Amino acid sequence: MKITVIGLGYLGATHAVAMAELGHQVIGIEANPKRLGDLQNGVVPFFEPGLDEALQSVIAKGNIKFQADHTEESREADLHFLCVGTPQLPGSYAANTQYLHDAVRALAPYLREDAVIAGKSTVPVGTAAKLTEVLAEAAGFQPHLAWNPEFLREGTALEDSLRPDRIVIGVNDDRSAELLRKVYEPITAHGTPFITTDIPTAELVKVAANSFLATKISFINAMAEIAEVAGADAVSLAEAIGYDERIGNKFLRNGIGFGGGCLPKDIRAFMARAEELGVGQAVDFLADVDSINLRRRARVVDLLKRELGSIAGKRILVLGAAFKPDSDDLRDSPSIAVAKLILAEGANVVVHDPISLDHVRATEPSLIAEQDLIKAATGAEAIVLATEWSNYRTLDLPAELAPVVANKLIIDGRNALKVAAWQSAGFRLIALGRNVEA
Ligand code: UGA
Repeated sequence: MKITVIGLGYLGATHAVAMAELGHQVIGIEANPKRLGDLQNGVVPFFEPGLDEALQSVIAKGNIKFQADHTEESREADLHFLCVGTPQLPGSYAANTQYLHDAVRALAPYLREDAVIAGKSTVPVGTAAKLTEVLAEAAGFQPHLAWNPEFLREGTALEDSLRPDRIVIGVNDDRSAELLRKVYEPITAHGTPFITTDIPTAELVKVAANSFLATKISFINAMAEIAEVAGADAVSLAEAIGYDERIGNKFLRNGIGFGGGCLPKDIRAFMARAEELGVGQAVDFLADVDSINLRRRARVVDLLKRELGSIAGKRILVLGAAFKPDSDDLRDSPSIAVAKLILAEGANVVVHDPISLDHVRATEPSLIAEQDLIKAATGAEAIVLATEWSNYRTLDLPAELAPVVANKLIIDGRNALKVAAWQSAGFRLIALGRNVEA
């Protein structure tokens, strides 16, 4: 099929490559000149394992091209995917849907009457209905607009796109259902569940899924708060409850909490939208989910102060800057938030990360970004593991760092370290929510 993918950030770039891998002819539209230039040159403008190779392969096959605007060729497309961002509005919890409005207005002159527009961006419920009105006015006919939420995770984005747990489409006409079924046929042929709903349900599915995931993480972090004062162990607790299939063991890792471009903004946008709809109370609990999450960041500073007294003027090393491993995304990163809380106490904060230190230098100049791990650790009074990259979990690391640090204290903010390895290298290890202190 001939398709366009509009907006080539994380979601759009991955979706465009995935569609081209499935054999569709893809035109990617991206307004940002730097991002566009990178993609045209076969370079993914963010870190995502495996995506560069896949991009180069679909370019070589001639299945994909990238441009700044629509051209007459967009009129040949049967299906247009909307993948532009819906960031949090400044000074508000609500999502900014302006980029979607701009995208459909720009598409309208090139839209065939039998073509289908499928929104993939995460949106407040009711957005598709508004976009339909905008498009109908701009195009002069009633468009086929559908919603098709995306569930990919950073770090495993391509795999999640090509082998998703499920595909969800929200439609209110047969043409949309038919084309979306057809575009995903190479995936559903392998048995992937394909769920067809009305449009508001499809819009809600995405925010509901992300709210549930955020709630699971905050639930286990709430248990960690209790475990810490009760002398219990939240990691064993998670394992024990996780064997119950109704609960499941995923997304029950306690630590400094969730961040990134999705979970935090999505729960806030959901609260704002529910309030607008007059049912704010239904998701009041998400405010607690948010506060538990933020409290765990502050807990690291409390532990440092408990152990070191004042941390003013002391050198503290934060391991990891990205919001999770295998990503260079610093958006609402718990690691950066923790580093800045430590900085606010007057400490000298050194940050190490395998791939995202250039972003740290550009966005957080008050943090010391050091690429050499030994140099970063030299003279440190404490180390905080904030992002569980695999290179911080190697068993040799404690012995390598032990001779250079000024004080052998490590706080495991992700419950990712082998406690015995650090203890045998002479470190005092404090893990959030656990009773492993020695
Ligand atoms: C999330 C969802 O998982 C995807 O399904 C969704 O498509 C995506 O948002 C989106 O809306 O686009 P992502 O933001 O890539 O994906 O990251 P996650 O893997 O969900 O992790 C989010 C945060 O939660 C990270 O900071 C991670 O460290 C933290 N986390 C995760 C925990 O603290 N504990 C856990 O047990 C799991």
